[in-house]
Amino acid sequence: MFLQRRNRILRTNAAIRSLVAETNVSANDFLVPFFIVEGTYVKEQIPSMPGYYRMSLENTVLHVKHLYSIGARAVLLFIKCADTEKDNTGAAALRVDGLMQKSIKAIKEAVPEILVFTDVALDPYSIYGHDGIVTNGLINNDATVAVLAAMAVSHAIAGADFVAPSDMMDGRVAAIRRALENHQQHHVGIMSYSAKYASCWYGPFRDALDSAPGFGDKKTYQMNPANRIEALKETSMDIQEGADIVMIKPALSYLDIIRDIKNKVNVPVAAYQVSGEYAMIKAAAAQGWVDEQAAMIESLLSIKRAGTDIIATYYAETYLKLLQA
Ligand code: PBG
Repeated sequence: MFLQRRNRILRTNAAIRSLVAETNVSANDFLVPFFIVEGTYVKEQIPSMPGYYRMSLENTVLHVKHLYSIGARAVLLFIKCADTEKDNTGAAALRVDGLMQKSIKAIKEAVPEILVFTDVALDPYSIYGHDGIVTNGLINNDATVAVLAAMAVSHAIAGADFVAPSDMMDGRVAAIRRALENHQQHHVGIMSYSAKYASCWYGPFRDALDSAPGFGDKKTYQMNPANRIEALKETSMDIQEGADIVMIKPALSYLDIIRDIKNKVNVPVAAYQVSGEYAMIKAAAAQGWVDEQAAMIESLLSIKRAGTDIIATYYAETYLKLLQA
């Protein structure tokens, strides 16, 4: 048989396949999430996230050092607030000596080269488990934005490199940029969760931080999974308001959104492979139904191929170790 073109030539062996690979996931792509808790020498596995832990500060610092040594360049910090500290104002989120502020300082002192991104949202601090202040049973957008801006400034002063608002309130990126400018935090960037969907895949994360909504759901602020155009609206507004990096979340169910956004914007695009995506692979692998390593690699590659510059993933450490092997 004569064929003018034989496409399989470029798939003959591993060497040629790697030479012509269009996408490559590398150590520079990762944002590593951390769940930090009060206490000393705490390291507790999150039941719905096998192999992932909540750690107290000194263990977190040790782990950040280790991750840096194997190639990680950025961490994304979440804290678990004690129940007794939770309220409806976010007071615990603003303390100069709060767990987040202490953690930022300790990590930057121990590993100055690593970039520290911090979660800016009220849900871990909220008695209602919502990302906003609740007034008469509703999420109070404007009151929440004022607290988020103050929270972002406190993270910046503690040494954060980027603040990452994950709340989906209207106008928060502009308010945060303005507050950072007003407090001489000109060097601090904003990575906004621009297209964050009201997703079932956040379940294990809410276990990790004990932050599930106490009433209702998050559909009045997080986006409807049915919508595409709205993701572009949200993202372009965040960029106008001053977002340096935009994010799509979750990742694997929203690869079309990642590509739409990548084609439209001129800022770096991040995606979050969220807790439920991780848990799903872990669970299927534990049953012997999928090969975990292959599922990790294929999912990360797909997220990157869709148009992602930065991937937040609970698989970062496993992948970094694999790169070293
Ligand atoms: C809340 C927040 C959530 C996640 C990151 N920030 C959960 C939520 O919106 O309820 C989810 C991350 C994950 O599932 O891995 N501000």
